[in-house]
Amino acid sequence: MAFDLDLIQKVYAALPEKVAAARKLLGRPLTQAEKILYAHSFETPQHAYERGKDYVNFSPDRVAMQDATAQMALLQFMTCGRAQVAVPSTVHCDHLIQAKTGANQDLATANEVNKEVYDFLASISNKYGIGFWKPGAGIIHQVVLENYAFPGGMMIGTDSHTPNAGGLGMIAIGVGGADAVDVMAGLPWELKMPKLIGVKLTGKMSGWTSAKDIILKVAGILTVKGGTGAIVEYFGEGADSLSCTGKGTICNMGAEIGATCSLFAYDDKMGGYLRATNRKEIADMADGIREYLRPDEEVYSSPEKYYDQLIEINLDELEPYVNGPFTPDLATPISQMAEAVKQHGWPDAVEVALIGSCTNSSYEDISRAAFIANDAMEKGLKAKSEYTITPGSEMVRFTIERDGMLDTFDKMGGVVLANACGPCIGQWARHIDDPNRKNTIVTSFNRNFAKRNDSYSGTHAFVASPEITTAYAIAGRLSFNPLKDTLVNEKGESVKLAEPQGFELPPKGFDVDDPGFQAPAEDGSKVEVMVNPDSNRLQLLSPFTAWEGTDLSHLRLLIKAFGKCTTDHISMAGPWLKFRGHLDNISNNMLIGAINAFNMESNKVKNQLTGEYGEVPAVQRDYKAHGIGSVVVGDENYGEGSSREHAAMEPRHLGVRAIVVKSFARIHETNLKKQGMLALTFNDKADYDKIQEDDVIDLQGLTTLAPGSQVTMVLRHKDETTENIVLNHTYNDQQIEWFKAGGALNVIRAEFAA
Ligand code: F3S
Repeated sequence: MAFDLDLIQKVYAALPEKVAAARKLLGRPLTQAEKILYAHSFETPQHAYERGKDYVNFSPDRVAMQDATAQMALLQFMTCGRAQVAVPSTVHCDHLIQAKTGANQDLATANEVNKEVYDFLASISNKYGIGFWKPGAGIIHQVVLENYAFPGGMMIGTDSHTPNAGGLGMIAIGVGGADAVDVMAGLPWELKMPKLIGVKLTGKMSGWTSAKDIILKVAGILTVKGGTGAIVEYFGEGADSLSCTGKGTICNMGAEIGATCSLFAYDDKMGGYLRATNRKEIADMADGIREYLRPDEEVYSSPEKYYDQLIEINLDELEPYVNGPFTPDLATPISQMAEAVKQHGWPDAVEVALIGSCTNSSYEDISRAAFIANDAMEKGLKAKSEYTITPGSEMVRFTIERDGMLDTFDKMGGVVLANACGPCIGQWARHIDDPNRKNTIVTSFNRNFAKRNDSYSGTHAFVASPEITTAYAIAGRLSFNPLKDTLVNEKGESVKLAEPQGFELPPKGFDVDDPGFQAPAEDGSKVEVMVNPDSNRLQLLSPFTAWEGTDLSHLRLLIKAFGKCTTDHISMAGPWLKFRGHLDNISNNMLIGAINAFNMESNKVKNQLTGEYGEVPAVQRDYKAHGIGSVVVGDENYGEGSSREHAAMEPRHLGVRAIVVKSFARIHETNLKKQGMLALTFNDKADYDKIQEDDVIDLQGLTTLAPGSQVTMVLRHKDETTENIVLNHTYNDQQIEWFKAGGALNVIRAEFAA
């Protein structure tokens, strides 16, 4: 599990010079994000990058993958011909463990049910030099914070809460599997230069308020879209007063405001956390170059000059917040909750209170929650709600067990769940009498969209700090305000909960018996990747075939999608998640959510060979069986939503040759290009209307494809008339190579073979 000290030394050795060069280029002081971004530019920066406009190639230092997204990422990586990953990478088995009865039993069940996926991930990690964290070792972001994050570094992770590592001063960004493949293969990783939002924290928190309340308040101010395309940088004396893990909580939930990532400047709290987690060498090195791991002083004195948007929060005045239901930006201060519960008709009874997850399972979080639980029991109170505790890592779990906190929770009737995502990602076999009944749960997690935790639409999920969540578990009421309300104990006395107290770091240090880490083989060349050929969850990939070198003719129209066609319409989630590692099986969901413009129905298209209507994947498989290519036509912003590469791989796998739309969502367009697909747009958007259901299509101009060239789409209508339509593309020279080779990974493989 060792962090890569050589790599960090290299990053730190180069930082002063790179920061000085960037300062010269921009002609002004730099924010912390700018220092890290310019220092991680793939090419030496030649000009100032325009925020919110320029696309920049970066070289991240690390990659982290969780088990659900790692499957397809690593199956693809296998085909690129590299013997080892190009940058340090890790896999974390956290998403596939279902919470049902408690940690031990649930973990045993997961090991059985997901055995083939875990065996695959362990063996492929072993082969290609990837650190493997077994099921039960912990949740990706907590494990990364404890082991790999470092101030001034840059990483990507195949999970949206990767920005958690910003708590240790790292630019850490959540991406799709295709991006992870690029970086592991040694390719640059592209990102639009983010805008910068500054959050100045003044004052100091006290009493019931915790770091979680800062981000809950920020979410209320910025809303779920307010951080889109931006890095949120926190600064001010209030920032330096927060524990490192508290900073992590805030950065984690930056995902809830759509931020690219969030960031804190290196300070003594981070140094202390690095030392407590056996990384003294990094802390010493970071202390030596501290000025490069923090914004320039001028940024602090006039922040309005350097950030695109500025927010100020006075921590002296901040009170605890409770956000929800159904959205993390509906922020209500605890003093107004009782009124809000009445006004909105939210169910007052808190049926389940859940603490932990990657967001809030630090030693500090758990010790403050345990303090409240202890205080309540000493005062003759018991928990009124069901109460669960999800430790973020085995190291935290082992340490809080040693320090008696698990015993405290046990006495209060709490259930300790596996060190895994569990209820946070809907992996929760919740027992409820009526799934349609309106009910309330409170979690210290990050997301609370309808059905996310337990799949029940009647569940009102609220998000709060672990301290407030624990107080709710004891009171059993959402309208309870622990800051002022009293509770009646078993003797009939009125008692008040004491303000929480805890420890930022364990006074006796962290401890762990088996952290659950498997180091990769030094030489993985002989290691066999374990995939059962009969598996319906995993399938080795064969490289896609190269372009045949000619224009394409006699293609059939597969579907003309009407209106919104997101990656969910193209490759649905839900029950299909289990096929994420099996391209052929998951391809049976291709475009089943898209609306056919000719009949306004989903998953019902005309098979031009039979004249019959059928499901989209079945019709496409029929064309493929007859050696006939096809074209998908779409509307505006085709492929918006997630960066899931399956949405590009499925049409490629089933033999669709081109996607022709009014406009693309950028990430999906890039994903299509990476998979060797043709991603084309109408020169005149009105031409979308000319596409008819029985059209046979030729694409001309492929042999002369060049940056800025155009492609002609010949439509042969059923009435034997013909129309020519002009199509545009945005392929650069490198992307044209991808198209010709049949995909980006084929290009890389050829380079390694040469
Ligand atoms: Fe897992 Fe929930 Fe975090 S799904 S990675 S615990 S946000």
